[in-house]
Amino acid sequence: MKTLTVMNEKGGVGKTNIVAHGGWYFAERFRTLVIDLDQQANLTATLGAHLARTSSVDLFADVAKVEPVGPLTVTRSTRELLGIEGADRACIETFRDNLASMADDYDVCVIDTPPALTNRTFGALLAADAVLAPIGINDYSLQGVAELIRAIKGVSSHYHRAEPDFLGLLPSIFDRKSRRERELYEALAEQLGKILFPGIVAKRDAYSRAASEGMPVWEIKTAAARDAGNEIRGVFETVATKMELGA
Ligand SMILES: Nc1ncnc2c1ncn2[C@@H]1O[C@H](COP(=O)(O)OP(=O)(O)OP(=O)(O)O)[C@@H](O)[C@H]1O
Ligand SMILES: [Mg+2]
Repeated sequence: MKTLTVMNEKGGVGKTNIVAHGGWYFAERFRTLVIDLDQQANLTATLGAHLARTSSVDLFADVAKVEPVGPLTVTRSTRELLGIEGADRACIETFRDNLASMADDYDVCVIDTPPALTNRTFGALLAADAVLAPIGINDYSLQGVAELIRAIKGVSSHYHRAEPDFLGLLPSIFDRKSRRERELYEALAEQLGKILFPGIVAKRDAYSRAASEGMPVWEIKTAAARDAGNEIRGVFETVATKMELGA
């Protein structure tokens, strides 16, 4: 099993939208596990058709395994996840160990994290083989980038492990009609070079609709949704290649 953690301390940058589509995309090809670590439970609502009996919080406590419910299996978020933040730091390693114990049960795991650098996010980073960081194309989002990279490196060095593969900053909810955003994006591409993910997720109504209807954009039958589908499938095709999934 290879684990992808989607993180950014910044809220509302499209993490959950990207994880939901990653789950749907990978489940068409691989045995896929999705873990919702955000007590807001947006992902749990969107992927509600695929819930396992195990809750995400269980993975921080005892020895826990998640029984697959189909090609896509999702562990639900509950308010108890907040308790992880006051818990002993050992729970971070318990989470990593529980995921490692499922190495043969799933091919890929995707983790959605809360918009904060908390024990849950540290657990998700410790368990990660790869990290993807959605960003908004605006100055505030960009100011957090150094902190984000520091967190990834910090967790690895604290636990004496090799760093996960940083797949890049993925421009998300990108308003291509905004001249300001297009200009910022151009500047970024030049400035960030390799740490900018080769792809974008544009701002499109089809994504909000996908979230509320619990289906990927490529199953929504409108021309606009078809464009969204091609776009986000392209993103995950690149992610799969970078993670050497199915190789
Ligand atoms: N590409 C997009 N185009 C249009 N709307 C989007 C897009 N991506 C996400 N949204 C909408 O924007 C809002 C925030 O997105 P989302 O919940 O995925 O962000 P998040 O980073 O997970 O937020 P949080 O930090 O609160 O967990 C949601 O209402 C979602 O439906
Ligand atoms: Mg979210």
